[in-house]
Formats: sequence, structure tokens, C-alpha cells
Amino acid sequence: MQHRIAVAALIGGLTLTTSLFAGRFDPAESLANYTPELTKEFKQLLRDADVEAGAAYFDRKCINCHDAVKEGKHGKGPLLWNLFGNKAGSKEGFEYSDAMKGSGHTWDYATLNYYLTRTDRAVPGRIMNFRGIRKDKQRADLLAYLRQFNEQPPKLP
Ligand code: HEC
Repeated sequence: MQHRIAVAALIGGLTLTTSLFAGRFDPAESLANYTPELTKEFKQLLRDADVEAGAAYFDRKCINCHDAVKEGKHGKGPLLWNLFGNKAGSKEGFEYSDAMKGSGHTWDYATLNYYLTRTDRAVPGRIMNFRGIRKDKQRADLLAYLRQFNEQPPKLP
């Protein structure tokens, strides 16, 4: 009897572990297999974005690893100058993970928004030690700031 309970508990535990694992790394949700789109609400947040708040957020959360200015250099993370329109994992001179190199998408508002929401879901196996930003407004402010670091800033949607 006790033995049966132990086996049941073991199987239950395994099922839970497998489903948690699958939930975390569902390949269907990775940018290699999924093309995100911007919602109407998010487009509006981008148009109304507070660029100063985006700058402050960048200086708090990203600057330890990334520089974005034209004359900048790679740090722990790649240089984010000319990010929009660039293929993921393709900046010269930076050692990306195979996951990022193989993700196959191009960075635009929609893919960046999706990546920065939950980096491990968007690019399973990424080596960027930053999980994501929950608040839509914070992501929108940040993207409105980052677009300025493109030779030709992409139009707001
Ligand atoms: C602890 C260091 C670290 C922090 C903090 C960090 N990043 Fe990264 N970032 C990385 C690394 C390392 C990579 C390369 C990931 C890979 O190859 O899997 C990366 C990759 C990226 C990429 C893909 C670039 C490309 O050329 O394809 C973007 C976009 C990005 N980071 C944006 C951000 C933003 C915006 C923030 C702040 C919210 C941030 N990162 C915070 C380390 C970091």
C-alpha cells in the first residue's frame, strides 16, 4: 500500500516536472517558430511613450551589460546601436549563444516587445541573464528610447 502511494507520488512528481519544463520552453512560443504582432493598445503606448522614463529604465536595467550609442562597444551583452532591422544574434565581434544565432528573426517593435516580455520563452537557451519586463508601458517607453539609437529610427507604428 505504502509502496503504491510512493509510486503514485513519484509519477505525479514526474508529470509535474515535465509539464513545468515544457511550459517554460515551449518551442511553439519561441521566436524561431512564432511571429508576434503588436496589439492596438501597445501601438498606442508606443506613440504616447515617455522617452525619458525609457532612458531611466535603460540606465537602471540594461546599461550594466549593453551600450547603445554609435561609438559604443560590446559589453557583457552586444552593442544595441542599429538594433532595429538587424537580424538577431548577428552583431559582429560578439559571441552569442547558439540559441540567439539560430533564432532566425529580425528585430522590430513586435519581436523586441515579445523578447523583452520574457526572454527565456522567446529565445530558449539565451545567455542574457535578464528575465523580462512585465509592464507594457515600461517596455513601450524603453523601445521608444532604443529606436533613437538607429541610424534611421524606425517609424512609430
Ligand atoms: C546581465 C547582462 C544583461 C542584461 C542586464 C541585459 N542584457 Fe540584453 N543581452 C545580454 C547578452 C549576454 C545577450 C546575448 C544573448 C545570447 O546570445 O543568447 C543579450 C542580447 C540582447 C539582445 C539581442 C541583441 C542582438 O544583437 O541580437 C537585445 C535586443 C537585448 N539584449 C536587449 C536588452 C535590454 C533592452 C536590456 C534591459 C532591459 C537587457 N538586454 C539587459 C546581456 C544582458
